[in-house]
Amino acid sequence: MIPHNQPFELYEAAIYEPAEMLDRSKAFYRALDKRRTVREFSDRPVPKAVIENIVRTASTAPSGAHKQPWTFCVVSDAKIKASIREAAEKEEYENYHGRMSEDWLDDLKPFGTDHIKPFLEVAPYLIVVFKKAYDLGPDGEKQKNYYVNESVGLAGGMLLAAIHHAGLVAVTHTPSPMNFLQKVLNRPANERPFLLVPVGYPAKDAKVPSLTRKPLEEISVWYE
Ligand SMILES: Cc1cc2nc3c(=O)[nH]c(=O)nc-3n(C[C@H](O)[C@H](O)[C@H](O)COP(=O)(O)O)c2cc1C
Repeated sequence: MIPHNQPFELYEAAIYEPAEMLDRSKAFYRALDKRRTVREFSDRPVPKAVIENIVRTASTAPSGAHKQPWTFCVVSDAKIKASIREAAEKEEYENYHGRMSEDWLDDLKPFGTDHIKPFLEVAPYLIVVFKKAYDLGPDGEKQKNYYVNESVGLAGGMLLAAIHHAGLVAVTHTPSPMNFLQKVLNRPANERPFLLVPVGYPAKDAKVPSLTRKPLEEISVWYE
């Protein structure tokens, strides 16, 4: 069913024989299974062109009615990074000293995290993902976006996969409430902060908490 006036193009299919498909799916799983949240960064510079490609990759994510309701703010300016760190640590201090429940603090213990966030200044880039609650038309009128959280969540996942694929590391950081990011980065009223993602090389000898991932049996139900 092709509506008139709607341009369509042939889909460029990449089709593999089952054996190759199996190899590819296994290799991709193994590669992504190596992704870890790393919280200790090196200040070694990262080429800007790499970050540009990572952001382009994130924006290939599907989105409700293809509205692409996201803005990626890419911060390398030291002063802005310092402002973000200061504001984030203020919020995180409140979170760790009263705002988070005892259960939540217990769940965080294995990660050894606290309100101090040096990575916000050490990482060469901070990618701040904003969701666009609505868009603004040429005359400033509000235009609806659909499934904004789902869409921006998917773009965030693709962002993290692209960072990992490039051989860099990231933290998915959510120093909530994150309204300060809207102010520090001077974003318009239709944009709300969604994720704060420091990106760079890992520090030498960076450590990550040991964890296991749930096996297939635990995360899937098959109706055959
Ligand atoms: C939505 C979301 C918010 C997160 N917020 C934080 C955070 O504020 N600080 C932090 O250190 N890690 C944060 N993380 C990272 C998780 O702790 C991490 O993904 C989890 O422990 C699994 O580890 P892995 O990413 O190495 O697989 C967050 C992850 C997600 C998906």
